[in-house]
Amino acid sequence: MSRDRSTTSVAPSSPDTIRDSSPAIHAGPHDSYFSGLQNALSHAGIASPSVVIDRARLRRNAVRLKALIASNAQLRLVEKSLPVPALLDEAMKLTETSALMVFHEPQLRQVAQRFPDSDLLMGKPMPVLAARHFYRHLGNTSFDPARQLQWLIDTPARLQEYLELARGLDTKLRVNVEIDVGLHRGGVTDPSALRVMLEQLHGASEHLEFAGLMGYDAHVGKLPGLVQSRETSFGKAVDAYRSFQAVARAEFPELAPTLCWNGAGSPTVALHRHNSPLNDVSAGSALLKPLEFDIDLLAEFEPAVFITTPVLKAQDGTRLPGPAWLSKLLFGGRAQRARSYFIYGGGWPAQPASPVGLLPNKQFGLSFNQSILNGPREHALAVNDTVFFRPYQSEGTLLHYGPVRVIEDGRVVDEWLPFGEI
Ligand SMILES: Cc1ncc(COP(=O)(O)O)c(C=O)c1O
Repeated sequence: MSRDRSTTSVAPSSPDTIRDSSPAIHAGPHDSYFSGLQNALSHAGIASPSVVIDRARLRRNAVRLKALIASNAQLRLVEKSLPVPALLDEAMKLTETSALMVFHEPQLRQVAQRFPDSDLLMGKPMPVLAARHFYRHLGNTSFDPARQLQWLIDTPARLQEYLELARGLDTKLRVNVEIDVGLHRGGVTDPSALRVMLEQLHGASEHLEFAGLMGYDAHVGKLPGLVQSRETSFGKAVDAYRSFQAVARAEFPELAPTLCWNGAGSPTVALHRHNSPLNDVSAGSALLKPLEFDIDLLAEFEPAVFITTPVLKAQDGTRLPGPAWLSKLLFGGRAQRARSYFIYGGGWPAQPASPVGLLPNKQFGLSFNQSILNGPREHALAVNDTVFFRPYQSEGTLLHYGPVRVIEDGRVVDEWLPFGEI
């Protein structure tokens, strides 16, 4: 495997060089894919913790995601899983959708500003004060909330609060009702409770407009097969959805053809390809495939997001503070503890992805400043080499490392700033 050693130069006077006594077996820590990413970062002069997106993989994942959406449904991209304006822009173009699901009021305002033609559905019920804050601080934009935004409402009490907000603002709000299809994270739990809320909506039609239902089914496929199979939990979720839908259609027959029947998420989007009650299908994470999305239904998708950081110190063996015999007892002769690395940063919700065989060290402890990793002699890292992590989720990760570095054809071609807390 060829490797650009210029990326791993070590100052000759550094004490770490002296401790790093195994350069001879240092054939190259990464396979050709990660070597390519490492070279791209090095070429761009990036040597601090950073998030990178592989644009070619993102593009291929977009094609795969589009192929999972039934012809009678629209894809709604989950903004919180892709919370970077330029990334969203690219993802919306690639998947040909302007529908987004949003979860955070500051991001809602920024999305409305940046994508004034988008169609937005909230993914969780917002405190009415947050909704009021949105209207007060939206600013100048052609985005028209009365047409382009559905608030998510889970209880009659919240519906009443939103009615009062609409009256106070002298505007009309669109309301989507959260239904519980088995996840038990809130929402209306049975069709008769939905009927009560829909009657409330009938009585408030001057200010509130019923827009549809949202039933998220993240529990499907998560239970051990012995407790409940994926087929059974999916079937139950779909049946529950249909029974809520029947009530909504009966209460609002005139609106029925235009209502938004939202549900799904990356883990279940493939299941909704056929015979689904949904006409509005959410997914976001599948485009980047962080670690938690390594599931059979997304097997074809490729990991496209990594946290990267340089190695600051590379040592033989693993030495805890205190008596040498303790370290020997705990780590001596253990191939996976043969090398120690202190990296720039750490403590992330992520797992090392390259080189293979890296492990955290619980005994040494957690550090957000200089974390320790252990590894075998094979694929040994040197000072200034890059470690690649796969985050468990893209949500959160993309917000915390400054500009997201976009890698294409072996080069960092773009830097995308995530949404801010404004
Ligand atoms: C309501 C709702 N829909 C859909 C999703 C799916 O998002 P993703 O595709 O990024 O997993 C989520 C994720 O938390 C959600 O809360």
